[in-house]
Amino acid sequence: SGIIKVGLLGCGTVGTGVIKVLAENAEEITPKVGAQIIISRVLVRDAQKKRDLPQSISVTDNIEDILNDPEIKIVIELLGGIHPAREYMLRAMQSGKNVVTANKDVVAQFGKDMFAAAEASDVDFMFEASVGGGIPIITPLKQCLTANKLTEVIGIVNGTTNYMLTKMSEEGASYDEVLKAAQEKGYAEADPTADVGGLDAARKTAILASIAFNSRVGLDKVHVEGITKITPEDIAYAKELGYTIKLLSISRDDEKGIDVRVHPALLPQSHPLAAVRNEFNAIFVKGNAVGETMFYGRGAGQLPTASAVIADVVDVARDIVKDRFGRIRCTCYEHKNFCPIEQ
Ligand code: NAP
Ligand code: HSE
Repeated sequence: SGIIKVGLLGCGTVGTGVIKVLAENAEEITPKVGAQIIISRVLVRDAQKKRDLPQSISVTDNIEDILNDPEIKIVIELLGGIHPAREYMLRAMQSGKNVVTANKDVVAQFGKDMFAAAEASDVDFMFEASVGGGIPIITPLKQCLTANKLTEVIGIVNGTTNYMLTKMSEEGASYDEVLKAAQEKGYAEADPTADVGGLDAARKTAILASIAFNSRVGLDKVHVEGITKITPEDIAYAKELGYTIKLLSISRDDEKGIDVRVHPALLPQSHPLAAVRNEFNAIFVKGNAVGETMFYGRGAGQLPTASAVIADVVDVARDIVKDRFGRIRCTCYEHKNFCPIEQ
């Protein structure tokens, strides 16, 4: 019918961004898919809360409304945390719905179950936004760099802590003050302990290393140290000596095996990662054919993350359109007469 209906689980920072970008960029997105992507239902904890959403979206606090809606072909999970997000995603896939998520907690710990469920139900499970916010990194690792033996993935993968370290260094701001600012800007997790303690970066490191080195790298394999012990004095002292403190994610695969770690590091101010400021992330990937590549952009925040989520939704929607109508002949949505979707 030219419409692909989507159920959205979660309407917080990222969920709201997804609704906004899909609406604002509809003219950009629709022709690329060959059908309109419409969010028809949204799951939240508090369905009574006043929200500025289009009338066409039905808001519910009951997951069954989404799982039992046969018209919904794609479920976007943006609740965060393991429970109930994991169960909802598994049930969505068992009901034949494709799943797109930004949830690194679930992907890092239960990725294997999620891929198995997707395969068993012949649906897609996509998670580009789980690492690097708006930076394309999962798809490049899985597809564009697939010809390589990858040996190193090193970078800054947490926006909250990079924002905090930047403000502490450049403005002399206090730890508590900058953590609060990162929360207000929507960079931090609902419980920011995982950000500052390094666990969020460790989850992302486990995901990156698993894909890059084509092996299962569990979260328990990642050595983790966050920024909670970094004081303004440490930062000022480092600066005086010509160094910047950054929270690094380091994954290496060499003759000694796979080594994965997250910890604060002193970088000379001339190092390219020292120039990565605020909520930006940067990831270097080294491959034996391509050499060194670098991925850079906003690692957290409403619209950048929505951009990555929607890219996955578009990918899945294209497959749905192809399955239903064969090759898309008309890429211009205006030319309804020629568009197989509209006939
Ligand atoms: P958020 O602002 O805390 O929003 C969470 C949403 O989920 C809220 O709408 C909340 O409902 C709903 N929700 C939570 N638990 C629920 C439950 N048990 N049942 C029904 N609804 C529930 O979170 P966010 O920042 O958008 O993050 C969402 C996901 O994206 C997380 O996995 C996060 O790690 C990931 N992510 C975030 C960013 C970022 O920059 N923020 C970037 C990349 C990835 P109410 O509105 O009723 O409270
Ligand atoms: N809390 C995360 C961060 C969100 O600050 O990087 C993006 O995954």
